[in-house]
Amino acid sequence: MVKNVIFLVKQILKSGFTILVTLFVLHLIWNSTADTEKVNKRDMHKPISMAVTETVTFESVTTTEDAFTTEKTTEKVTYTKYQTFKYIHLPLKICELDGGQFDPFLLIVVKSSALQIGNREAIRSTWAKFNNPNIKLVFLLGYSPLIKQYINMEYNLYKDIVQQNFLDDYFNNTLKTIMGLDWTVTHCPKSKFVFFVDDDYFVNLPKVLNYIDYHVRKQTKHLIAGHKYTGAVPKRKTGSKWYVSWQDYPEKRWPPYLSGGSMIMAMSVAKLLKEQIPYTKPLFIDDVFLGIVAKSLNIELWNERKFSVSFVPDRLGSLFSAHRYGSPKNLISEWKRVRCNHKNLFQKLYGSPDC
Ligand SMILES: *[C@@H]1O[C@H](CO)[C@@H](O)[C@H](O)[C@H]1NC(C)=O
Repeated sequence: MVKNVIFLVKQILKSGFTILVTLFVLHLIWNSTADTEKVNKRDMHKPISMAVTETVTFESVTTTEDAFTTEKTTEKVTYTKYQTFKYIHLPLKICELDGGQFDPFLLIVVKSSALQIGNREAIRSTWAKFNNPNIKLVFLLGYSPLIKQYINMEYNLYKDIVQQNFLDDYFNNTLKTIMGLDWTVTHCPKSKFVFFVDDDYFVNLPKVLNYIDYHVRKQTKHLIAGHKYTGAVPKRKTGSKWYVSWQDYPEKRWPPYLSGGSMIMAMSVAKLLKEQIPYTKPLFIDDVFLGIVAKSLNIELWNERKFSVSFVPDRLGSLFSAHRYGSPKNLISEWKRVRCNHKNLFQKLYGSPDC
């Protein structure tokens, strides 16, 4: 049953219909299979210890000065409105091999909008189809009542979805990022690197691996790299999608931050960020939020323009990643083209293409 549904989705995507048609068809299918509503109970545990709600209040500030030492105790503000969200889907075998704990070298966490079924299918059949047990990939999803049944099926088939019970919405992106950090740090702590990427990115994984290699050889401490923005200004007009009031953020400029769509970080950085989050004032813009967290930790952000925020078809062979591939169908055709044009580059991870 599950396989049939996924097959149907693939066929629809191939023939170029929109995702809405897919959803409609799935809706019809679910109506006739109401009994598939079965959430894996074992996976319902594990509350997340740090997640944000929109309202911000904070606890008392403790500053004590010890008269006998010159050291000043640092202020620690804890945001009490951090709320716990539960995992709906929590794949337990990602960081396992032959029944034992095995943390892959690289974890790829794809922030995906729950509704983007097509993007996930296209990613699974293109750049995520690598052949290397030392690299693992999961999709990060929030909760979507509309396609709950479908996500259950998708999870059962692929076991590559990490999902919590906050609503899947653009304005909950920070929660998704926090979930990703929580999941990697808690479940795969011995992995070396985490690659955060959105589901609308083309990824040139061999190039990403070369870049990681370079930093491993250079012994870079606390690597976190991506497309860096410096001196950006918050949107202060109330109509803006990214409007932030002076009260919520009283400074003129954002701190430097990395575009949230595609960035690589060492596990040591993921751990530091995760630990610092409860002391950081919540902000719905996830990449700026991480920039704020990184700043408070004095972590340097590496600027690497090859994590491209635009789609440049001619440069896909040399970029690390590229944003907005368009439709799932387009990702599939671009992937074929790039693989055929750069056979040697992709050979090791993906085998020989049919060109
Ligand atoms: C974010 O998730 C919370 C928890 O599910 C929900 O109450 C809130 O409405 C969501 N925010 C948006 C903008 O959807």
